[in-house]
Amino acid sequence: MKGIILAGGAGSRLYPLTRVASKQLQPVYDKPMVYYPLTTLVEGGVREFCLISTPQDLPRFQQLLGDGNQWGLSIEYREQARPEGIAQAFLIADSFIGKDAVTLILGDNVFYGGESFQRAFREFERGAVIFGYHVHDPERYGVVEFDAHGLAISIEEKPTQPKSNYAVPGLYLFDNEVVNITRALKPSPRGELEITDVNMAYLRRGRLKVYRLNRGFAWLDAGTSSSLHEASAYVQTIEKRQGVKIGCPEEAAFRQGFLSLDRMKSLTDSMPKCEYRNYLLQVIEEARHLPAEPA
Ligand code: G1P
Repeated sequence: MKGIILAGGAGSRLYPLTRVASKQLQPVYDKPMVYYPLTTLVEGGVREFCLISTPQDLPRFQQLLGDGNQWGLSIEYREQARPEGIAQAFLIADSFIGKDAVTLILGDNVFYGGESFQRAFREFERGAVIFGYHVHDPERYGVVEFDAHGLAISIEEKPTQPKSNYAVPGLYLFDNEVVNITRALKPSPRGELEITDVNMAYLRRGRLKVYRLNRGFAWLDAGTSSSLHEASAYVQTIEKRQGVKIGCPEEAAFRQGFLSLDRMKSLTDSMPKCEYRNYLLQVIEEARHLPAEPA
């Protein structure tokens, strides 16, 4: 499965932080924000990426992530000249997607916990898979309505009267039909190709699965100064308590077998002496002595 990371937008809610670096390059505790969604997809087994951003910001993402080869990945870059919707990503990345299935993750979505995503990636065959997450403010998101059997019956984008508390997080899995479905879409009243319209098209065809994420799962929003701060505090709390890092692409690539022990070692050799490097050295050390983590 191919992976798209959408890291566009003006980041206006974070101004002046975003005057020189885009939202997805801001720190979430000890790493740039984009590391988190990238890691989520690597943990799902995705190896080929296309990162989409604005023409101004793209060079900085390239500087940060390169061609991905250092982590056993490949990363291509494409421009989204104007903010014309999440679904536009499938048209921009059309040649990258080719004949494959594709997952799209929003560059400002931070996830942590559980195996739900890994299972969804493993079991994906066709159609579309999205998720539902219980939130207190569903009107800010795409909202799923379920029937009494737990089947999704509608999805509405930022409804004023939400039909449930289940918001749709910014991680979506699609078969190759997504490109044709997007080509047939009309822009919404706000002038965007809406991801919710793509999901509705799959729902109408009876090809949409919505998995509800359980309460042990964290989905953090990093779009405003206070939610960015809270996301940092959350990551810091978990990392300090557990001594594990969230959103570490080197570790995820290593655990997926995309990076050999030797290449991981030479990566750490090229890093300055810092806490991040010490952590990776510890990951290497533990991998030498311990079998993989229990589920
Ligand atoms: C977008 C989607 C929305 C989804 C949300 C997740 O909203 O349109 O359906 O729930 O991402 O972060 P936006 O970030 O454009 O407000």
